[in-house]
Parts: sequence; structure tokens; C-alpha cells
Amino acid sequence: MFDILLKQFVMAEQGLEKPVAKAAEKVAEVASLSEFSNLGYLVASVLFIMGIKGLTHPRTAVRGNLLGAAGMLIAVLVTLVGGQVSWPVAIAGIAVGTAAGTWFANTVQMTQMPQLVALFNGFGGIASVLVAGAEVLRSAPTSGNIAVAGLAAGLAGLIGSVTFTGSLVAAGKLQELSQFKKPFSLPGHQIINAVLIAVTLILCLNMMDGSAWEYFLLTTIALVLGVFLVTPIGGADMPVVIALLNSYSGLAASAAGFVINNNVLIVAGALVGASGIILTNIMCKAMNRSLLNVLFAKFEPSADGPSDDEVYAGKIKSTSPEEVAMLLDGVQRVVVVPGYGLAVAQAQHIVREMATLLESEGVTVEYAIHPVAGRMPGHMNVLLAEADVPYDQLKEMDEINPTFSQCDAAIVIGANDVVNPVANTDPSSPIAGMPILNVGDARTVIVVKRSLSPGFAGIPNPLFAADNCLMLFGDAKQVLMELVAALKDR
Ligand code: TAP
Repeated sequence: MFDILLKQFVMAEQGLEKPVAKAAEKVAEVASLSEFSNLGYLVASVLFIMGIKGLTHPRTAVRGNLLGAAGMLIAVLVTLVGGQVSWPVAIAGIAVGTAAGTWFANTVQMTQMPQLVALFNGFGGIASVLVAGAEVLRSAPTSGNIAVAGLAAGLAGLIGSVTFTGSLVAAGKLQELSQFKKPFSLPGHQIINAVLIAVTLILCLNMMDGSAWEYFLLTTIALVLGVFLVTPIGGADMPVVIALLNSYSGLAASAAGFVINNNVLIVAGALVGASGIILTNIMCKAMNRSLLNVLFAKFEPSADGPSDDEVYAGKIKSTSPEEVAMLLDGVQRVVVVPGYGLAVAQAQHIVREMATLLESEGVTVEYAIHPVAGRMPGHMNVLLAEADVPYDQLKEMDEINPTFSQCDAAIVIGANDVVNPVANTDPSSPIAGMPILNVGDARTVIVVKRSLSPGFAGIPNPLFAADNCLMLFGDAKQVLMELVAALKDR
């Protein structure tokens, strides 16, 4: 563009005045368009940041989502008006994306959300690979500095490819597809990974002066690396891996932004990259594990721990909804502890109904939220918000733990690992050191689950055999419906 303007300027210098006027007009047009684009991108970026801020609290989460979506709409419109893309192609893309998004939103179950997020991350990764690849094929990087644009293309190709195949494997594991279910590793797996990482990094650096076929080689090896990195990791650690891959997808997008010189892509990608890594860190802390431990150590149910019989035999006291209704007569404070089983049973609405009944009798009801209860970050918050549980009744682990001793009844609904005291007592347990909800301190603990089956970590839970614990066996929704009926009949 500027070459043409320069030529026109030279022509003007040679006495051709018309071209000078035209060139000046063109410069003014380009400058105002680019100012308009940057202003629009700035507004979009601010909306993204406000959106992420909104997502930090359940009360503002819906508004945060809408702000983020508005930011994306502005970014897309500005890009269209800026003439950087073809309208028909963009509109076709928006139509396909909207149709797919609507279908997913209406059909995917809440318990399948982590798999869906994994797929979205993967699609983000491959989009960055294709955008950077298209620029490499055109051999005309839009960025001023060819070496920087080439390196950015290499990074987008490398990170985006790893994100794509890694996310597909992660989604397969969470969907419990037979091919991916078990952690899989080859002899010398970590050495193979180290070699693949080294080769891809060299190829990536080479992209500063690289060709299309070198980019193709880089992305092909990176696609294999993505599979190799994720296959050895167990299903229990997949949500952490997904948060990490989410961060990678942002970094790949940011690198692609440098390739096509698009400011909003750089900013949005950086935001996703940073927030993904912060979330990964929060999840690792909540499980008391380091990221390296999650990525490179196997998390498997311990074969050495005590058997179910050793923990439970002769110590389990089962109860009935009617008995629990009587037990709740005259209590002052009840803490509900939701877990993955609540999501499986979709029992959130009946839990709310039970709480409302108790509150009408003057009972204080609160909910203890463990940061990794369920299968995705914020899983319990989302479920309880669906049932319109007031946010101020949701108490985080650190806040509620010291108060369990003043609680008349803790009702544990479909939670297991997050209330398992072996995390504090057995250093060889797979959940050793994981902070837990100290429900055992409550006067009475009522555990709602279908059987004595273990939770995600695959280990028995001595809480169920404790003197103050009663087991209310059955599907959470069904059992709570019976409990609500019994409470009404009292
Ligand atoms: P879990 O320990 O997985 O236990 C869930 C329990 O729900 C099971 O013991 C199961 O027992 C019960 N259940 C299943 N369906 C039920 C139904 N329809 N009705 C009643 N109960 C039902 O759940 P948790 O305590 O929420 O712990 C979460 C686990 O996931 C932790 O180990 C955590 O580290 C791991 N994890 C979570 C995350 C995030 S981000 N949330 C990330 C990584 C790992 P029955 O089969 O006997 O009913």
C-alpha cells in the first residue's frame, strides 16, 4: 500500500498533480479507517476485560457474559467494516457458528460441559493454525517486521496444533470414549515428548525465515505432540488440562494476531491466555498438586490403600427420608454440601425446595462450596444459580470450615472426595493434602448417594463409617423428593 503511495508521490514530484491529490486522499482514508478500527478494537477489548471481571461473581456472571459477547460483536463488525475480510465468507462463518453454538447450548448436558469447553479450545487452536498458515502461504505477512511475523506464525502453528489434538484427546477422555479412557504411554514417553518439543521449537525459530512446507512440517509434528502430551494424563486431571489448553488457545490466537497485525486478536488472545493460566493455578492449589505433578505424574486410584471392607464393614448406618425429616425437626443451622452427584441427578431444584421449607421453619440454611466439587470450575455455583439459590448463602470452603462445629446437620449430596478426611490423615492417598470440607465436625452428617461407590479419586471414604454419619441411599433427586414430602407431612 505504502509502496503505491510512494510511487504516486514520486509521480507527483515529477509534476503529475492529480495523482498527488488522489494519493493524499487515499492516505487520509486509510488513516481514518485504521483509527476507526483501533478505536472499535479498544472498546471491544475494554468490554472483554469488563466481561471477565463480571465472571468473577455469580451475581454479575450473566452480565459479564453479555459484555464479552457485545465486545466480540463490535470486534467482528469493525473487522468487516475495515475491509480486512470478505463479507460473504464472514457472514457464512457467523451463520455456521451461530447455528452450531445454539445447537450445543440447547443439547449439551451440564455434566458434559467440560468436554464441550475442550472442543471449543481445540477449535480455537486450529483456527489460529489456519490463519497463520494462510499468511505463510501468501508469503506476504501483514506485519511490518517479516522475522517477527514469521516467528509469530511459527508460535501460532505450534501452540495451536498442540491445543487442537490435545483438546480432542481431553474431550475423548472426559466423554469416556473407550480409545481414550485409560492413560496411555509408550516406553520412554517423556523422552519422546522432550525430543518432539525440542524439534518443534527449532522449527518454530526457523519460521523467522521459513517457508510454507516448513510450517506444514512444524504443525504436523506439533499435532502429534499434542496427542503425546495428553494421552498419559488420567481422566481425573482432565479439567486442569482443559484449563491449561484454554490458556494455550489464547496464546495461539494472540500469536495469530501478530501474524495478521490485528490488535483485538492480540489483546483477546492474551486475556484468554492469562485467565486460563490463573484458573489452572487455582485448580492445582485446590487439589494441593503442582502443575508439573498433574502433567507428568500418573494420578491413579491407590492399590495400596485400605479396601472398602476394611473401611466400611459393620460401621455403616443407613437411614430413611422419614427419619431424616424427624432428625431435622428443631435444628437451627443446616449446611448443604453439594458434589458431582447433585449434578448427575439434577437435584438442584429439589434441594432449593428443601431449603425453602426448612427456612420457613426458622432454620438457617447455607451451602458449602468446594473449589473442585463436580467436574469443572464453578460447577456447583452454576447448578445452584440455576435453582435461584441466593448467592449470599453460598459459602466458600475457607469461610465455612471453621463453622461446621456449630452446625446441627450437614447434608452431603452426591459429594465424596471433597469431604474425604483421608486427604488430611493418609499421606499416601491420591488426594493427600487436598483441602476438604470438614463436615465430620457437624453434629450429624447425612450423606445422600446411591451406594458406597467411590468418587473420582477411586478410594473409600471413612466419613461414611463415622459415628455421627447416616447414609441416605438413593438417587439424589428421588431421595430428596421423598425427604421434602416427609418434611411437609411432619
Ligand atoms: P466425587 O468425589 O466424584 O463423588 C461423586 C459422588 O456422587 C459419587 O461417589 C457417586 O456415588 C455420587 N453420585 C453419582 N450420581 C449420583 C446420583 N444420581 N445421586 C446421588 N449421588 C450420586 O465428587 P466430588 O466430591 O464433587 O469431588 C470432585 C472430584 O473431581 C474430586 O476428586 C476432584 O479433585 C475431581 N476434579 C474436579 C475438578 C473440578 S474443576 N471440579 C477438576 C479436576 C478434578 P454413587 O455412585 O454411590 O451414587
